[in-house]
Amino acid sequence: MDVVETAAACRDALDRARATGRAVGLVPTMGALHDGHTSLVARARAECEVVAVSIFVNPLQFGDPDDIARYPRTLERDLLVCAEAGADVVFVPPVSEMYPSWPAPPATTVSVGGVSDRWEGASRPGHFDGVATVVSKLFSIAGPCRAYFGLKDFQQLAVVRRLVLDLSLPIEVVGCPIVREADGLALSSRNARLSGGEREAASVLSGALAAGRAAIAAGERSGAAVARAMGVAVARDPLVRLDYAVAVDAGSLEEVGDIDDAGTVRLLVAAQVGPVRLIDNSGALEGADETPAGADGTEQVRQLERIG
Ligand code: PAJ
Repeated sequence: MDVVETAAACRDALDRARATGRAVGLVPTMGALHDGHTSLVARARAECEVVAVSIFVNPLQFGDPDDIARYPRTLERDLLVCAEAGADVVFVPPVSEMYPSWPAPPATTVSVGGVSDRWEGASRPGHFDGVATVVSKLFSIAGPCRAYFGLKDFQQLAVVRRLVLDLSLPIEVVGCPIVREADGLALSSRNARLSGGEREAASVLSGALAAGRAAIAAGERSGAAVARAMGVAVARDPLVRLDYAVAVDAGSLEEVGDIDDAGTVRLLVAAQVGPVRLIDNSGALEGADETPAGADGTEQVRQLERIG
């Protein structure tokens, strides 16, 4: 496994692979790797001849200086995890490599309109511009045939899909199922910062998604009523402060009024638990939690093509 720190070295390593006709899969991460991340590497390993993982805590996507200061950094362990998961190249650039003018932000940034605006975008202004910019740079440096993202960050996946579509990038974006703890909590690097009590309380997020799915299964067709059922489930725990709980169209991420086809609906939830802001989401059908309609992106791309 090659560990490279410069864009030139990363490009070089992957150019050699492409020159021999091998398909490159890229897994962008911010490190502190867990089984959610390794599931993406495993998928890339199964589908691509060469697998590259990037580990970069991207300062451009953090609004809160405290959040980035506390973001877990476990590089030595991460490299072992990458080796074990079968990565061929790990790109670990310092901030100066990605943003030479830092702390002044780069003059050129990428902003994906519409889909970036609401939910996480509204709660974290500038966040998706930071994500879209770094992902564009990583795509340009690594030149992957396929790039692997988790459904865990559903809106991020929608932003990246839109970016690829609008800029005609020759990259297949692969959305991968959410990996969860036994009690339903979605794995996240931020979970490590939860105290014992907060960790227990955090399972109300996946509980809220289950409550939303149950309401729909019981015949509820009002998006607002489903959202209320989810909100009530979150409010059950005093350690959890709800940010949003909504039923949205999986393509546009706009809130749904009446639910005609639950297969096209995604349930989103975000809440503050102690010091940590957590997000989760699922399909709207019972049992469709991890593999919603369009999880492979086909339906969403079709919808994007209709819009675009
Ligand atoms: P990070 O939070 O490290 O996540 C890297 C990838 O792992 C993302 O695609 C995310 O959706 C996926 N992931 C995280 N938890 C997961 C889980 N429980 N199950 C499945 N996949 C999971 O997302 C980012 O980094 C950054 O925004 C990045 C795209 C790297 C740009 O900086």
